[in-house]
Amino acid sequence: MAVLFPKWMNVLPTLGAFAALGGAGVVVAGGWYWATPDFFEVGYMPEQPGSGFNHQIHAGKLGLDCRYCHTKIEISPEANIPNVATCIGCHAEGRVDPTKSLASDEKVQFIRDAYEADESIAWRRVHKLPDYVRNFPHDAHLNAGVSCYSCHGQIMGMPIVYQSQGLGMGWCLDCHRAPESHLVPKDRVTDLIWVQEKFSDKVQQQIDGKGLFDSLELNPPENCGACHY
Ligand code: HEC
Ligand code: HEC
Ligand code: HEC
Ligand code: HEC
Ligand code: HEC
Repeated sequence: MAVLFPKWMNVLPTLGAFAALGGAGVVVAGGWYWATPDFFEVGYMPEQPGSGFNHQIHAGKLGLDCRYCHTKIEISPEANIPNVATCIGCHAEGRVDPTKSLASDEKVQFIRDAYEADESIAWRRVHKLPDYVRNFPHDAHLNAGVSCYSCHGQIMGMPIVYQSQGLGMGWCLDCHRAPESHLVPKDRVTDLIWVQEKFSDKVQQQIDGKGLFDSLELNPPENCGACHY
């Protein structure tokens, strides 16, 4: 499933652009600047196979809950990517409304091909921590009331998923030291529209983050061993 894509390749288009401008000095300065996690990875958006997968259509417009596809996310550290069978449930011949703009056959043919060949679709990994970081626990964060929105941005509005946060160590620790303003009731963690609205400056105080923190007796770790081997 996950095809590893070295993060440094991310910088190639940028370097290419600078090189095209002809400034060798700029290449060095630019490379150094973008090498810090926040600038190195934010916006990373690898091209996906086939016609890709559109979260804006499926999670936004059709309103499918994240857990319809990322089924294990609350019970396992790992956020699983759905297999082809999940897609075929709707995209097998004739199952999608033929009057829709979907242009069903053409755009979803790569799914049927993969299904028939009994192969998985080689989705390219977007978010990836370095190997020296321990297994990142999705379950612990979701059960603590940290929404996908806080770490992945407004996925419901993304035609193609991109990385919206730096995922550097400082980013993890900033939240661990003061998570109250990032907490939502557990049953809202996948309700990204609701969360975005509540997190907008106007209404943030409507969520009692301190109350949630206390009632769940949360204890986000800051010791090295929690995140490193
Ligand atoms: C109909 C199935 C489906 C639904 C519903 C769905 N996803 Fe996905 N998701 C996928 C597939 C397939 C991929 C892999 C392709 C890609 O990265 O675009 C993916 C990838 C992702 C990724 C990027 C993974 C990586 O490589 O780093 C994130 C983050 C994500 N989904 C979050 C969400 C969130 C949040 C929701 C709910 C708002 C959601 N998904 C709903 C199928 C789904
Ligand atoms: C619950 C049903 C359902 C599931 C499950 C589902 N889809 Fe879809 N998908 C749809 C519908 C309905 C449309 C058409 C939406 C429209 O045209 O507005 C669509 C559209 C698409 C399109 C065309 C998008 C475009 O740009 O027009 C692609 C590609 C696609 N789906 C891929 C997938 C993949 C890959 C999966 C599995 C990870 C998947 N779908 C799972 C219902 C589903
Ligand atoms: C506290 C931050 C955080 C929250 C909350 C969070 N994620 Fe993630 N997610 C990450 C990080 C970090 C990674 C990369 C993990 C790694 O490389 O081990 C990731 C990776 C993923 C992946 C890729 C997994 C893979 O193996 O390809 C998917 C899919 C995903 N997240 C979906 C979601 C969904 C859906 C939600 C909400 C239900 C969610 N995440 C909530 C931080 C978060
Ligand atoms: C937006 C807030 C937020 C971000 C960002 C965040 N965390 Fe957390 N994390 C929490 C909270 C809240 C808990 C407390 C969970 C508990 O006490 O049950 C937690 C707990 C943990 C735990 C302990 C899990 C357990 O089983 O007790 C680990 C490990 C962890 N986080 C790793 C990370 C890593 C690595 C990153 C960065 C890639 C990260 N977190 C980013 C909020 C966050
Ligand atoms: C909450 C999780 C978490 C804790 C606690 C944590 N780290 Fe990290 N650390 C990370 C993540 C995630 C990265 C990867 C950052 C990146 O991708 O650049 C990282 C990266 C690093 C690096 C590589 C250089 C860098 O800054 O990117 C070193 C060295 C490091 N950590 C040491 C430590 C030490 C020493 C401690 C204890 C004082 C510690 N870490 C505690 C999550 C954590």
